Amino acid sequence: MSSGEETASALGRPWRAPHDHSGPTFVAGQGAWLVDRGGHRVIDATSGALNVFCGHGVEPIVDAYLSQLRTLAHVDMAQGLTGPAHRLADGLRDIRGHGGDRFFFANSGSEAIELAVGLSSRYWAAVDSRRTGIVTFERGYHGSTALCQSLSGLPQTSSAPDRFGVRVHHLTFGEFTGAEQRSGAAREHITAQLRTVLAGSAAGTVLVEPFLNVGGGIRLPEGLLGDIRRACDEYGALLVLDEVFTGVGRTGAWFAHEHTGVRPDLTAFSKGLTNGVCALSAVAADHRVLDRLPAGSIVPYGHTMSASAAACAAANATLEHMRRTGAVAAARAIGARLLSALERELRGTDGVVDVRGHGLALSVELDGVDCAGNVQQVVYDLGAYTRQQGSTVLLAPPACLSGAEEDRLVDHLVTGVRKVVAAR
Ligand SMILES: Cc1ncc(COP(=O)(O)O)c(C=O)c1O
Repeated sequence: MSSGEETASALGRPWRAPHDHSGPTFVAGQGAWLVDRGGHRVIDATSGALNVFCGHGVEPIVDAYLSQLRTLAHVDMAQGLTGPAHRLADGLRDIRGHGGDRFFFANSGSEAIELAVGLSSRYWAAVDSRRTGIVTFERGYHGSTALCQSLSGLPQTSSAPDRFGVRVHHLTFGEFTGAEQRSGAAREHITAQLRTVLAGSAAGTVLVEPFLNVGGGIRLPEGLLGDIRRACDEYGALLVLDEVFTGVGRTGAWFAHEHTGVRPDLTAFSKGLTNGVCALSAVAADHRVLDRLPAGSIVPYGHTMSASAAACAAANATLEHMRRTGAVAAARAIGARLLSALERELRGTDGVVDVRGHGLALSVELDGVDCAGNVQQVVYDLGAYTRQQGSTVLLAPPACLSGAEEDRLVDHLVTGVRKVVAAR
């Protein structure tokens, strides 16, 4: 990848050293493609920040956003209401099919997680004030606010201050690595840990991602989410799903939990909602949680831009575009083809630890962080932009990928892996 040329600018970046301007500078995006300032075209297998699910520059979505900006950009949701916000909540309720859900909107995924965890702690304050503890995956990532970082257990978040006095219990994969992480034995190992924590602690909230994105593009073992739901029911804990990455559409279902039949108590989601046009996140709260909040109590959250009319209009148009183009089914079909091609070409190859995926979230785990970084670089030069999560190269392309683009993406990745492994 070309190194940043504007090293003298004052730009600071997330998750980087203060003066780090390495990486490409992009100037345009259309469909599944990005163009960098050198004119190099690459397939965007990162979908922006994993949020441009339908591809760049989708006109009906951009138009709906611009049109709403001209009509009415925003009112304070704590004081007034707008038609696009009502329509979005009802549209999401129809998609989820959980009649009792109510939708609360924020901007970032982190805010949605804070809101979901906040609702859970208000529930517990009303039901049993001792149950303040939270269970999460050690390899989970729940956002960059201080609370969200302290809920995650990743190396990059380990210095987060635990300033909230919340006891966080982390579930681990233990000795299970690579494909073993999806095994029945890993499922049992994790379920047993969860049951031990719930039986022996004051934990009342279990917060999990259905696909551990930042933690290494890890697909959970089949059946684990159902086990987690059963353990929560048995010990009376609330299940909060972090579908910030997986919602909406990414795994080939509107929400990843649909694959499992599990019904969460609270679901935070964000990335697919506006196709990257503007910030918007949401929490779907089941009536079983809301009904137990103290009568007359408020939901104590709110951000200036929460549920702006323009953001809701962009989300309504995104959902409509996804329905019209069959984007969710496309994610399922394209993802399945990509996975089988990558498995065929790379499974068992030197340097490759595992190939896995769910819908349009595919991971090629390599035998080292450097190897993954080198593969990402070579693949970029060949013509595809991928994402490195530790020793894993993640592919999360948009659902508009054509058959020819699919073949190209696979070809670039396979060539990249073979080149890097052969050169060492
Ligand atoms: C699973 C998950 N949760 C939470 C977040 C945080 O979302 P945001 O970056 O919008 O705050 C992310 C972002 O990547 C995520 O992948």
